[in-house]
Amino acid sequence: MTSTNDIRRSFLDYFGANGHTIVPSAPLVPHNDPTLMFVNAGMVPFKNVFTGLETRPYKTATSSQKSVRAGGKHNDLDNVGYTARHHTFFEMLGNFSFGDYFKEQAIHHAWSLLTKEWGLPAEKLTTTVYHTDDEAFDLWKKIAGLPDHKIIRIPTKDNFWAMGDSGPCGPCSEIFYDHGDHIWGGPPGSPEEDGDRFVEIWNLVFMQYEQEANEIVSELPKPSIDTGMGLERIAAVMQGVHNNYDIDTFKALIAESGALTRTATDGEFQASHRVIADHLRSTSFLIADGVLPANEGRGYVLRRIMRRAMRHAHIIGAKDPLMYRLVSSLVSEMGGAYPELVRAQPLIEETLLREETRFRKTLENGLKLLDEATADLAEGATLPGETAFKLYDTYGFPYDLTEDALRTQGLSVDRAGFDAAMAEQKAAARAAWKGSGEKASDEIWYDIAETLGSTEFIGYASTKGEGEVLALLKDGARVDAASAGDKVTIITNQTPFYGESGGQNGDAGTITTLGGLVAEVADTSKPLGRLHAHQAVISAGSVKVGDTVNLTVDVERRDRIRANHSATHLLHAALRKELGGHVTQKGSMVAADRLRFDFSHPEALTQAQIAKVEADVNAQIRHNDEVMTRLMTPDDAIAAGAMALFGEKYGDEVRVLSMGKGDDHSYSVELCGGTHVRALGDIALFKIVSESAVSSGVRRIEALTGEAARLWLVERDEKLRQTAAALKTTPEEVPARIAALVEQSRKLERELAEARKALALGGGGSAKPAGPEKVGSVDFLGQVIDGLDPKELRGIVDGNKKTLGSGVSAVLAVVDGRATIAVGVTDDLTGSFSAVDLVRAGVEALGGKGGGGRADMAQGGGPDGDKAQAAIDAVKAALASVPA
Ligand code: ALA
Repeated sequence: MTSTNDIRRSFLDYFGANGHTIVPSAPLVPHNDPTLMFVNAGMVPFKNVFTGLETRPYKTATSSQKSVRAGGKHNDLDNVGYTARHHTFFEMLGNFSFGDYFKEQAIHHAWSLLTKEWGLPAEKLTTTVYHTDDEAFDLWKKIAGLPDHKIIRIPTKDNFWAMGDSGPCGPCSEIFYDHGDHIWGGPPGSPEEDGDRFVEIWNLVFMQYEQEANEIVSELPKPSIDTGMGLERIAAVMQGVHNNYDIDTFKALIAESGALTRTATDGEFQASHRVIADHLRSTSFLIADGVLPANEGRGYVLRRIMRRAMRHAHIIGAKDPLMYRLVSSLVSEMGGAYPELVRAQPLIEETLLREETRFRKTLENGLKLLDEATADLAEGATLPGETAFKLYDTYGFPYDLTEDALRTQGLSVDRAGFDAAMAEQKAAARAAWKGSGEKASDEIWYDIAETLGSTEFIGYASTKGEGEVLALLKDGARVDAASAGDKVTIITNQTPFYGESGGQNGDAGTITTLGGLVAEVADTSKPLGRLHAHQAVISAGSVKVGDTVNLTVDVERRDRIRANHSATHLLHAALRKELGGHVTQKGSMVAADRLRFDFSHPEALTQAQIAKVEADVNAQIRHNDEVMTRLMTPDDAIAAGAMALFGEKYGDEVRVLSMGKGDDHSYSVELCGGTHVRALGDIALFKIVSESAVSSGVRRIEALTGEAARLWLVERDEKLRQTAAALKTTPEEVPARIAALVEQSRKLERELAEARKALALGGGGSAKPAGPEKVGSVDFLGQVIDGLDPKELRGIVDGNKKTLGSGVSAVLAVVDGRATIAVGVTDDLTGSFSAVDLVRAGVEALGGKGGGGRADMAQGGGPDGDKAQAAIDAVKAALASVPA
């Protein structure tokens, strides 16, 4: 038997050998198409190549593309598991020509691979062509030698393929395999075509047009080829089975599901096992490609698929969560071809386990309540919409589950009543919304969010994407269009731009269109916590609501933000480790150029503590472990040791970031919606540049990472080098040299002070006391000393008092033009003269005020140092004016 893995390989090898570039599957989340939820065909990643917007280094390609069809145009989720060929996830094998070969070569390749390479009998094959496509008809005749009745002309849309309402399209030709007359059904176009005997295995699309809103609007630059062959279908043919669920890959998964639940896989639970196997594939691949369960957007579709499988696990009677235990089987079946599955295995298992654990509780509670609510309802009755809403709102029981559970009892639900209850609750929430206080803008945000929906953030996995413009704001009001020179806020249905929240700055970048729009986004905010508002200035072109725009984040800036954000988590963990569990985050700011982290701690950190914290963070960075993101309920996350931010509002689900290696668990576990590095080595370097107080009990650390940290160190190094040069020494010797200089300068100061004092007390020059003179009957000694430390004044006055025996002395120190004066009166004279009165006379002469002390010693000063002599004279005059 040829395994599914072999068939995939052999397909790619065939086209590779025929000059096609083998292109790896694109991720399931399309980043080049805002109208599409998931990649749903092999040509999707090449859409812009077909239309000529984009060129690649190759003109022909081949791929095995992961595809998800879960509702909408191409699939109905409810059928999956109950039919032979419906899947939510499948692989599409394809070969593509971008203006290279066309119909003839495409038909030649298909026929040659199927009949020669793979040896399928020609008589089992039938083809169709679009009814007007004579060229294709003739080519099938010529190349395959098929008789006319096996080239069926089909006049319907079945033979005109389009990706969706918009995009490349063209007539197509399909190849059918006849599974044999033991199965009911007829060839395409016959009355029995809906039977399952003739199965379409390959679709060759002759891409020629581009359509918008279902109308052909232009021809593609060159006729091209897009083909698609469901790998599961061709595997069924080549493995001699009729049902896709009987191929090797599915058989393995279904056998495991049966073994784990101890149930037969072909009995009453056959469909449930198939649902589980199919949904396991889509959910696992979606998680591997960055989608996590959510209540909106892609995450919601993922959740619906998961829950459908989990409900089937419940139907089978699984006692414990089942899905996560099947992941290893899936990885052994498909991990070889899709390494992302291997990488994401722990994340997939975790996510499935948590979701199923939670869902089983919901299911249990909900079903009980539903039983009570329906106890009195007769068969055929309708459950009031309000009851269904209460189940949903209070117990988290999804509407479709209520409907589904009741269907088996012959009951229905009042959908209109449910919708009305939902609308009422939204209105109440809106009325209660306080918002930022700016009533007008809050109203606008509310209107946008409620009528147009939230912005889906696609920036965890990508920094580029397309979005549809939902709204434009100019000068605080909504506008339909804007053009060059306008300052606008642009809201799109999805965006890779992070909106400022959780301390992390919003992204900057550009928004452009092929029509010439260039809008420079300086910042992105996140009003209501669910719209991403790009603050932009339009530098060229124009934009209008409804336009499809290309959103490109400034990656270099985002990378610096990522590094700073992840470093903030590591810093938080390192601080707790070094200082203790009382350390909690009090605030943070993550910008592109730096990070700031405020935390509770009663005192300044010592230099040793700062050094230890810094060393710990850098050690984690060097280990370069991958950063792991998981989705959990807040309670589970906190139970798992996550550091939650007090006072933050968390939704039903939180992203939990784990980083680095600790003693027995991750070094850091935090709830966080921000963007982070892929692996810690991306931070490169961490440097604390300041530690300070914010308020009592709250400290602040500012730090740098990566290139900013390196530049900071380079600058420090340069300053050290300059210092060393000035000191005429080496950087290594600088500390010792500075210490020596400081010591030397202290010594010199001491010596200088001594010298000045000695000079004052007996040396020569201007400082020499003139010798006592008589003022009235009192001996007076006056003295002015330039450069004397005023602290020395009292000592000198005391000395003079001793010299005089009985008398008055006034001494002035003049430093930097300012004078300080001290006056002393010997004790025997304090009855007649007060030093305080005398000093005041001197102070006044110096242009100052006041002066104080006691009767025997007083001091004061004034700004006019050049009036020192006048001050002495003023003291003398005051002395003379007092009758002795
Ligand atoms: N794009 C074509 C399909 O999906 C081949 O059928």
